[in-house]
Amino acid sequence: MSFNRLKGKVAIITGAASGIGAASARLFAEEGAQVLAVDRPGSAIDTVHAGATAIAPLACDITDADAPKRIVGGALERFGAIDILFNNAGVSGRHFAEEMTDEQWDRVMDVNVRAMFRTCREAIPHLRKRAEEKGRARIINTASVMAFDTDYGLSAYCASKAGVAGLTHTLALELGKFRITANYILPGAVYTGLTKAGFDNPEIAAIWAKKAALRRLGQPIDLARGALLLACDESDFITGHGLVVDGGLTLRT
Ligand SMILES: NC(=O)c1ccc[n+]([C@@H]2O[C@H](COP(=O)([O-])OP(=O)(O)OC[C@H]3O[C@@H](n4cnc5c(N)ncnc54)[C@H](O)[C@@H]3O)[C@@H](O)[C@H]2O)c1
Repeated sequence: MSFNRLKGKVAIITGAASGIGAASARLFAEEGAQVLAVDRPGSAIDTVHAGATAIAPLACDITDADAPKRIVGGALERFGAIDILFNNAGVSGRHFAEEMTDEQWDRVMDVNVRAMFRTCREAIPHLRKRAEEKGRARIINTASVMAFDTDYGLSAYCASKAGVAGLTHTLALELGKFRITANYILPGAVYTGLTKAGFDNPEIAAIWAKKAALRRLGQPIDLARGALLLACDESDFITGHGLVVDGGLTLRT
């Protein structure tokens, strides 16, 4: 059921060909937004939202030098403004620290933090302009419960997601006076393209489902709804906040 909570808004969503980003693009569009759905060339971005007239695909690797200009310029060209920047694209990879190569470390940091920062920097003047006109604009970033938890082989991933938290706190501080909020979501164990290989094993899925207080894995729509809470007008006084959306996975040590 749609309540038109994003009526008249323009949103950029990265990582929108799959999982949390794809579900968010659909939900934001259902709620009245026009969405620039960004994902890398070779992903399903050109087909996955076919037929959804409010969703415009953009095939772009967010780590490319000119990606921020193409993404922000793409939204302005198609829709004329930007209300919501949802930086959600992310990659993982498991390597013990002792064995991790510079390339493996750099790739995770590049996608998860550096590209996020560069896209924010490019979008800020336009978010400021929109906030001046409309009274608000939003940055939402996807971190992970691995911003404060850990697991074997996840040193780069955990460092990157703690980086997302630090980046977002600082954006919130710097941009609050312009009525731009900056918040992040911290997904728990969610069934997506990133985790499919593991969770398609019923034993692994059952272990993670049992760890969560709500006794199930998250689905992409659960996270999309979390992002929607931070995107809509009702969250005007929430900034610098990390919203854990994990079904109670991390309640217990
Ligand atoms: N699935 C989980 O359990 C989980 C848990 C915590 C955090 N997250 C985070 O959620 C976010 C979304 O991931 P997901 O779980 O939906 O996985 P997913 O793999 O289904 O979706 C991620 C998307 O990001 C895109 N992407 C990756 N690198 C890119 C690049 N360089 N340029 C453009 N697009 C790129 C991928 O092509 C993919 O479509 C990620 O930031 C991830 O770290 C996921």
